[in-house]
Amino acid sequence: MGCESSPLSIQPRPFTIASRVTYNPWATNDQRYPAADQENRLHDLHEQLIERSAHYIGFPNSRIFDFKILADFLKFNINNIGDPWHPNSGINTCDFEREVLEFFAGIFHLDLNQGWGYITNGGTESNMYAIVRGRDAYPDAQLIFSEESHYSLTKIAHLLRMPHSVVPCHADGKLNLEAFASQIKDLNGKPCVINLSVGTTFHGAIESPAEVLNILDRQGCKEYYLHVDAALYGPMLPFIEGAPSFDFQLPIHSLSFSGHKFLGTPIPCGLVLCDRKQDPRFGSSAEYVGSVDTTLSGSRDGVSALILWTLITRLKGNGMAELAQQSLQLAEDAVLWLRDAGIECIHHPFGNIVVFPRPSVDLARKWQLATRGDLAHIVTLPGVTEAMLKTFITELIVDLKNE
Ligand SMILES: Cc1ncc(COP(=O)(O)O)c(C=O)c1O
Repeated sequence: MGCESSPLSIQPRPFTIASRVTYNPWATNDQRYPAADQENRLHDLHEQLIERSAHYIGFPNSRIFDFKILADFLKFNINNIGDPWHPNSGINTCDFEREVLEFFAGIFHLDLNQGWGYITNGGTESNMYAIVRGRDAYPDAQLIFSEESHYSLTKIAHLLRMPHSVVPCHADGKLNLEAFASQIKDLNGKPCVINLSVGTTFHGAIESPAEVLNILDRQGCKEYYLHVDAALYGPMLPFIEGAPSFDFQLPIHSLSFSGHKFLGTPIPCGLVLCDRKQDPRFGSSAEYVGSVDTTLSGSRDGVSALILWTLITRLKGNGMAELAQQSLQLAEDAVLWLRDAGIECIHHPFGNIVVFPRPSVDLARKWQLATRGDLAHIVTLPGVTEAMLKTFITELIVDLKNE
């Protein structure tokens, strides 16, 4: 069958291989819808955020790198939906995510041939994922957490409709181990899912997995699932000599931390690691995205994986150790300076949270302090400079004297 030649003056061109693929659909729209109107507003916001960051001492978010190196990646539809070990068929950074997970699995002594994990949207999702696993293992389990746990635990207990009990803590935020032991005894052999905070949100107290495991052993409790919520200290304390162990060297089942706390990712995220291959009952095939649906969320941010990868490859263990050391040093300094000025404070070993009497509303607002009842706290993370801390403490001393 032959083709008749076209009667038009337009003639087909012979096929040649494109020498270079140029794909830039963004450029057309950038020209078509210029950003000029936004510049002033964004400039003002930028100034405001610099000013707020210079007085940001009350919440646990480090400021380490500016991540400009990643700016070019914001234009892509990066989505790590599904299991990072079964990269979906779209645009994703699952290779980078796995590198991050492998790095932290090494730090926390988890053999990924047996274990699993993923980058979550934050500490709350990580806790929820872990506790779902615990409940799947023991459907009748009682969820146990301390009164100093993050508020996400109450929410999770409610969402999962799990019977739960709250363990009281001492005035300085430490877990009341006697009360914990008596709750285990009251279970009468019923299984439990336990959440321990390393450390607690307000005081930064460490709820020691080793001590809790001892109690479980003494009480003959064999059916338990132990999750360690190391939201702040997770990527920090493994680098500090003498810090208590809270990882998979102990018979824990899962461990999580937030990416935006000690590591200061500008986009909130978290990481959860667990002791077994993914086996949640909700996991299904997610065929249309080409992955396996083993995570709590559907679409997952893949830029966070790049940010965490940038952090671990630039800082490495040494950098993290230095920053952790510096953070603990500043907390020790703050305690000394406050006590020298006659101000009582609470500070736990290996902690970078310092709790003191609540100052005036104006001072608390200026320094964005986390407050609770009569108390307030600061968190001396990277990004809180010595000069900043000294200025704050000088103002706090004057403020509390004037109260
Ligand atoms: C101990 C603890 N767990 C969980 C969370 C929740 O983390 P996220 O805000 O990332 O959900 C926090 C947050 O402060 C926390 O302190």
